[in-house]
Amino acid sequence: MKIVILSGSPRKGGNTDILVEAFGEKAKAAGHALRIYRVASMTIHPCLGCDGCNPDGVCVQKDDMAEISEAIRGADVLLFASPIYWFSVSAQLKAVIDRLYSTAFSGSSVKKAALLLNSGSPDVFTPAVEMYREIIAYLGWEDAGIILIPDMAEKGSMRTALQLREVEALVRNL
Ligand SMILES: Cc1cc2nc3c(=O)[nH]c(=O)nc-3n(C[C@H](O)[C@H](O)[C@H](O)COP(=O)(O)O)c2cc1C
Repeated sequence: MKIVILSGSPRKGGNTDILVEAFGEKAKAAGHALRIYRVASMTIHPCLGCDGCNPDGVCVQKDDMAEISEAIRGADVLLFASPIYWFSVSAQLKAVIDRLYSTAFSGSSVKKAALLLNSGSPDVFTPAVEMYREIIAYLGWEDAGIILIPDMAEKGSMRTALQLREVEALVRNL
């Protein structure tokens, strides 16, 4: 399957990157094709709300979102990965999510989605998980799995996180 990963942390080599890498290794070993986008390293402007993408799905803004939109159009699975920032996903990932508005008009082959979140504290995931569930329900995508890893207070905490094993079950569920 073709999997597009939207990874939202600006911190290179941080916990989200480690988590995405662990997922990517297992997914590749299972024969899936991956496109990983570190969206914080790309130029992606916020949605202008101009409705210029309605109805043909082409955004009026010419930035790196065009490449992501193209990849999503031909993908089977879309995976969102982010650190929790103030009980939500990072602003960089949220900008991409807002820009999916144009993709919703042009359509895509995506059938499934997944969510990987990590945070400094426990019990902070509910708003981001609810947002994800509502978005994929609206778009008619099936949830392939959600991995939530708290207590990632330091850069690199993820390296020893036991929950990293959960990526195997997620890959099996794709
Ligand atoms: C701006 C900012 C906001 C954060 N907000 C929260 C929060 O609301 N709840 C929480 O548990 N952790 C919060 N954290 C901690 C991060 O979610 C956590 O350290 C995460 O592992 C960072 O991932 P990264 O290494 O991929 O950047 C925040 C960190 C930053 C920088």
